[in-house]
Amino acid sequence: MSKLTVAMAKGRTATMAIDLLAGAGIEFSSYSEASRKLVFMDDTGTVKLVVVKSVDVPTYVENGAADIGVIGKDVLLEEQKDVYEMLDLGISKCKLAVAGFPNHKFMDSSRLTVASKYPKVTKAHFDAKGIRTDIITLNGSIELAPLIGMSDVIVDIVESGKTLKENGLVILEDIADSSARIIVNKASFAIKTKQIQAFIAKVKKRVEVRS
Ligand code: PRP
Repeated sequence: MSKLTVAMAKGRTATMAIDLLAGAGIEFSSYSEASRKLVFMDDTGTVKLVVVKSVDVPTYVENGAADIGVIGKDVLLEEQKDVYEMLDLGISKCKLAVAGFPNHKFMDSSRLTVASKYPKVTKAHFDAKGIRTDIITLNGSIELAPLIGMSDVIVDIVESGKTLKENGLVILEDIADSSARIIVNKASFAIKTKQIQAFIAKVKKRVEVRS
């Protein structure tokens, strides 16, 4: 039987997803968040796990370097890759939102400067409202942008809301809910249909038990 390769976003999502997979009987006993290893085999030797930067997961899957990916919907919306989205894992829940200073009348603006890690989502969101945007793409600490006058508002993920709160910012508008999803390479699904379906069925059962 050929091996399945699963690409996962390192950090919190990987830790939660590996725990979920273990509950589904797909165990990676050798995995440790502290490890610098990038490749782990499951205990049966049939599933290979590669741990990569979250934004790269859809690329690994679209290119077929991984058959399966575990990735946030926020990244999928931004990356727009040609993959199948198969299952919502119900973990790593957060929302994509417009945020800024309280009572900011951003809807009244005809042009806004917006800082974000999600430039495509941001452009599509404001284009649909007829608001022109100058988008500043940043890779982290997005909340800093309005504080130092670099942008009017931000588009970012909000999980607990702690980062916004501690920086005097609030959600001004929700854009989309996000959670971790299983995605699948289209060619892999055609070639390894039974294996992939069996993998997803096991995980789905576990997700349903937990919810
Ligand atoms: C993310 C996101 C927010 C924060 C939201 O940043 O960009 O800054 O988490 O989480 P909260 O609502 O629970 O506070 P991340 O921790 O990935 O770090 P980054 O700023 O380096 O991207």
